[in-house]
Amino acid sequence: MISEIVNSLQVPLVSYSATDPTLSAQQFPYFIRTAQSDSYQMAAMADLVDYYGWKDVIAIYIDDDFGRNGIYALGNELEKKTMKISYRLPLPVEYDSRDITDTLNKSKIFGPRVYIVHANLDPAFRIFTIARELQMMGSDYVWLATDWVSATLDSLSPKYQTSMEILKGVVALRPHTPDSVRKTAFRARWRDMQTKGLTKSGLNTYGLFAYDTVWVVARAIDRYLNENGNVTFTFSNTLYDEKAEGMRLGQLKVFEGGSLLLKKLLQLNFTGLTGQIYFSPDRNVPSGGYDVINIDQREIRSVGFWSNKTGLSVVPPENIEGDHRSYTLEDQKLRNVTWPSGKTEIPRGWVVADSGNPLRIGVPNRFSFTEFVMENHSSHKFQGYCVDVFNEARNFVPYDIPHRFEAYGDGNSNPSYDGLVKMVANNDFDAAIGDIAIVTNRTKVVDFSQPFASSGLVIVAPVNNSKSSAWVFLQPFSAELWVVTAASFVIIAIVIWILEHRVNNDFRGPPKRQLATMFLFSFSTVFKKNQEDTVSPLGRMVMVVWLFLLMVVTSSYTASLSSILTVRQLSSPITGIDSLIASNWPIGYQVGSFAHSYLLESLYVSPSRLIPLGSPEEYEKALQLGPSNGGVAAIVDEQPYVELFLLKRTQFGIIGQAFTSGGWGFAFQRGSPLAVDISTAILKLSESGKLQEIQEKWFCKMGCASERGEQDLKPEQLHLISFWGLYLLCGVVSVTALLAFLIRMIFLFGRFKKQQMATTTSLSMSSNMQCSDTLYKFLDFVDQKEEATKKITPQSSTREDSL
Ligand code: SER
Repeated sequence: MISEIVNSLQVPLVSYSATDPTLSAQQFPYFIRTAQSDSYQMAAMADLVDYYGWKDVIAIYIDDDFGRNGIYALGNELEKKTMKISYRLPLPVEYDSRDITDTLNKSKIFGPRVYIVHANLDPAFRIFTIARELQMMGSDYVWLATDWVSATLDSLSPKYQTSMEILKGVVALRPHTPDSVRKTAFRARWRDMQTKGLTKSGLNTYGLFAYDTVWVVARAIDRYLNENGNVTFTFSNTLYDEKAEGMRLGQLKVFEGGSLLLKKLLQLNFTGLTGQIYFSPDRNVPSGGYDVINIDQREIRSVGFWSNKTGLSVVPPENIEGDHRSYTLEDQKLRNVTWPSGKTEIPRGWVVADSGNPLRIGVPNRFSFTEFVMENHSSHKFQGYCVDVFNEARNFVPYDIPHRFEAYGDGNSNPSYDGLVKMVANNDFDAAIGDIAIVTNRTKVVDFSQPFASSGLVIVAPVNNSKSSAWVFLQPFSAELWVVTAASFVIIAIVIWILEHRVNNDFRGPPKRQLATMFLFSFSTVFKKNQEDTVSPLGRMVMVVWLFLLMVVTSSYTASLSSILTVRQLSSPITGIDSLIASNWPIGYQVGSFAHSYLLESLYVSPSRLIPLGSPEEYEKALQLGPSNGGVAAIVDEQPYVELFLLKRTQFGIIGQAFTSGGWGFAFQRGSPLAVDISTAILKLSESGKLQEIQEKWFCKMGCASERGEQDLKPEQLHLISFWGLYLLCGVVSVTALLAFLIRMIFLFGRFKKQQMATTTSLSMSSNMQCSDTLYKFLDFVDQKEEATKKITPQSSTREDSL
């Protein structure tokens, strides 16, 4: 108000104590100050909170412009460093003990335990006195105060300083003024005055500011008078204000030389008790920084300094060289502080709850798949895999978590998990534990711990059990491959017979026997048990390639058959989520699960197709009935439930892979520091193998569900295309061998024929033999045993040679 008036009167106003950060030169051109704006003090406070690693604070302040604006500035500074004022607790301007008690009691149920008190001088320190009475100056608590505490303490005469016991453990700021000879001398003079009884009050920093301010004004007036000898005032109509008629502002005169005096003030630059004094363009003195003090053992200990250039340090700002405007947390340093607990260990700064107000933890009271979590009907205790995980995780949190489990759901059907999460967001529960899927619409309203189990959505559908089929052995090969394989046995039989017949006694004899030998030889190659050996080089060559082909074909057959016998195949035409959505069949989902909203909102499945199913028995029945008889074509649910469901039911299987990736976590209210600690604990549980143990305890009674693995891949039938290269090779080799054999036979036959003709010329054998006769003779020749022909041929050849 005074600023408004002096503005109109054009009288410069120099304040040594108005620290409200919103007082601006733009609004009040005649207002200047020699004290630091609280915007610096709040930046210092935010650095202090950040230095100790706290994230949330409670602000207690006086509900006037000074208090509100200071706390507003504090909020802004904290936000810059991703910290926040969780609760703002204003006190009435004329507050009394009752107001303080009510305010402090109210704050006890909050989680944060870092209090920042921004108030006016109060020699009785009533806020701290009552806090101590309410047991709020104990080990969990942190009390930080703006400069009102230091100003009050410094201005108390030594005999009142017993009140320091009340402030034990408090950390406060004090405007920093560099040490100087003048300051020391001034303090000595003040002490003199105190001893002489001229003053009772001690000297605080604002006293120094006041002293310097007097010099500021004196110097400016001096310069003003030197330049403009007279001081004149005139009446002005602009001062008349109907609303403020009672104040009779119109009777005040305007200072004509006001702007000149203001100019002289702003031009000042001299060294005062509080350091160098000059005004920056925003008409504030530049920040000299703050001392960080700690009240311990009835004394005020300096634990460090803050300046807007270097942040927190143990060296006074004036001794730090250079201009480091952007300092990091690592650069910050303070000496040890003794906290209200009397220890130097940094308090955690928040509590999850206390035994009087334990944490309210919502637990889903499941109806089906109760292995995960349920309320025991007789003992009303909560049990299950998720409860065990939470209890074990608590052991890894370095502090106690007083809590009370509260059932969510009546146990007659699975509760809505979205509803449970909403209750945490609405502060009906402080947290929720259980098989709660971490999904987007939930992470928007609560904080989740790290997942302790993976739980993507999968599709369950009926499967074929091939093991029951009598003709399963035919399945590995396609019909075409079977035909080609059978044909190749016959062809190989013939080829080998042709190649071996002349030279191998095993392949000779009566036609019936030869036929039997031929085919037995060929088929027994599969088992590598052929009784007959091949003797001709061509036959052996063909056999090598044929046996190689057989090796590949039989091992592929074995592999394919074993996969058919162990891997179940789908009997439904659904091959994945796309074909399921594209079909028009009903889809089952678990009551209460997020799967319902996921199918509706993310996959745009029509609501009429979604059938709620409450238990594994309902799953089984719906799948057996199938889509055309009032059942479902498939069920979409999270993998852990499905694995449990499939454990006893081999007629159903998972189609493809999980089509969403996700996990289960515990839900906490937004910003709850507990979420971080429980997350760390879950990671430790997982790394120590404890998580696996808990899982085995609950799910491996009948064989681990996870061991069943992904038994859903449809084994591929083997087709000719996979082997045609081999068959071709075998065919080429056989044909080549046959051709070579034929050429040799023709050659031998020619020689044999020539020989015969030579011996029979005398008998004038007719040379005009028929072609068919020749062919018969050739076949006869080929059919003869090699030795038989050789008996003739060697004689003839010797004869030929002699000829
Ligand atoms: N786990 C599911 C969910 O969180 C409930 O079955 O929605």
